[in-house]
Amino acid sequence: MYMTLKPRYHSPAGYSAEASGTDKRRLYIETYGCQMNVSDSEVVVSIMKENGVGYTEDITRADIILINTCSIRENAEQRVWGRLDHFRKIKNSKPGLIVGIIGCMAERLKEKLLEKEKLVDLVIGPDAYRELPSLLEEAGTGQKAINVLLSREETYADISPVRTDKNNVSAFVSIMRGCNNYCSYCVVPFTRGRERSRDPESVLREIGTLHENGYKEVTLLGQNVNSYMHKISSPAGYLDFSGLLEQAAALYPGMRMRFSTSHPRDISDKLLHTIARHDNICKHIHLPAQSGSTRILKLMNRGYTREEYLERISAIRNIVGDCAISTDIISGFCSETGEDHLQTLSLMKEAAYDFAYMFKYSERPGTRAAEKLNDDVPEEVKSRRLSEIISLQGTLSARSKEADMGKTFEVLVEGKSKKSDSELFGRTSQNKVVVFPSNGFKSGDFVNVRITRFTPATLIGIACPE
Ligand code: 5AD
Ligand code: SF4
Repeated sequence: MYMTLKPRYHSPAGYSAEASGTDKRRLYIETYGCQMNVSDSEVVVSIMKENGVGYTEDITRADIILINTCSIRENAEQRVWGRLDHFRKIKNSKPGLIVGIIGCMAERLKEKLLEKEKLVDLVIGPDAYRELPSLLEEAGTGQKAINVLLSREETYADISPVRTDKNNVSAFVSIMRGCNNYCSYCVVPFTRGRERSRDPESVLREIGTLHENGYKEVTLLGQNVNSYMHKISSPAGYLDFSGLLEQAAALYPGMRMRFSTSHPRDISDKLLHTIARHDNICKHIHLPAQSGSTRILKLMNRGYTREEYLERISAIRNIVGDCAISTDIISGFCSETGEDHLQTLSLMKEAAYDFAYMFKYSERPGTRAAEKLNDDVPEEVKSRRLSEIISLQGTLSARSKEADMGKTFEVLVEGKSKKSDSELFGRTSQNKVVVFPSNGFKSGDFVNVRITRFTPATLIGIACPE
């Protein structure tokens, strides 16, 4: 669910985010990494706001700078070090400015971050954001403040996130936190702790509030949404992800429901039937394969074979129909041979992915792979394999777009196209971006668009008459 190869900053600004006259101090926050971090930053802005700290998009007006970080690959951390250096320069010319590091890197590096002379005043892990106000006070007295305790319960269920997206059309709703899967390459179980699900009432209430505020789409978020499970007082005794999704879709038929990320082992037929039954559940499943070789998947501790993964792909195609499927692929994992790599390429072709996020393996300290396996694929081999993977996906993505030519899709408009004020952009249920001439439509409208051509990144079309 780490969405991008590019650094992704997210500077929050929402309908209620800007500092008001009563806020004494101002927070600037920069967010890296996954959608979960974006969602967490919204919780942080809300906690600060409750404590009289306003929000600013303008770093020069900030009294507090927070950087919400990602540890998933080494280069994600490198980027943060670069930003911290930049913040140090601002701090030197602005005494009293507080700089804090939050999120996965805070959790992973803990006290080490405070040891670096004058770099940060505050270090807070993903489960300790409620402590921000008191830690801020501590930091204000010149002490270094830290809380990196992980929790088995914290879901921030009672906190209404201050929406930081600019479009007021789609929003993230976090439904579970942490991960118990321990894939051998992955640092997430160590930085975000054990899996826990948020109570369904608070999830549905939050979606309801978004609905009242005119939002048209939510993305239910979790490291592994399909393992959502919460006790309820019904004969079954619990609600699973399929049940939660069903309730959300039925309660708010005018809103689209998305979800991310799904683990191939937990994507049940029951869930696929729920997706198929509701028009407002988007027909897109992000189903990270990581590798096409059963031997590598075993070393990765993924819990499925190549054949089992492909069986789930067939189940999606058979049950859901016209469903886009995307994936994450890692190239050059420990001991990966040329044959393993070819199996990944052939799996990609068989799955015919609509899009993919593709990475070079990056060893993360503390993980099982770092401790037990050798990071023995040379850098240039990792790079070559990655470029073959990217190039194949380019072909598959083009094929997927070509198949959309002449078809009509319902597009939820998110805003003006970057290139032209007279064009809008939005997404299909399959999560494909579509650009089309505005013709009086606006953000938040559902528009039927006929696809006429495509570029490598986008489908292009025209709105159909009613
Ligand atoms: N190296 C490279 N990619 C990784 N991912 C997770 N850990 C690593 C790592 N150590 C990728 C996986 C995961 C995505 C979020 O990031 O593909 O699905
Ligand atoms: Fe990491 Fe695996 Fe959990 Fe995803 S499922 S967060 S890759 S350990």
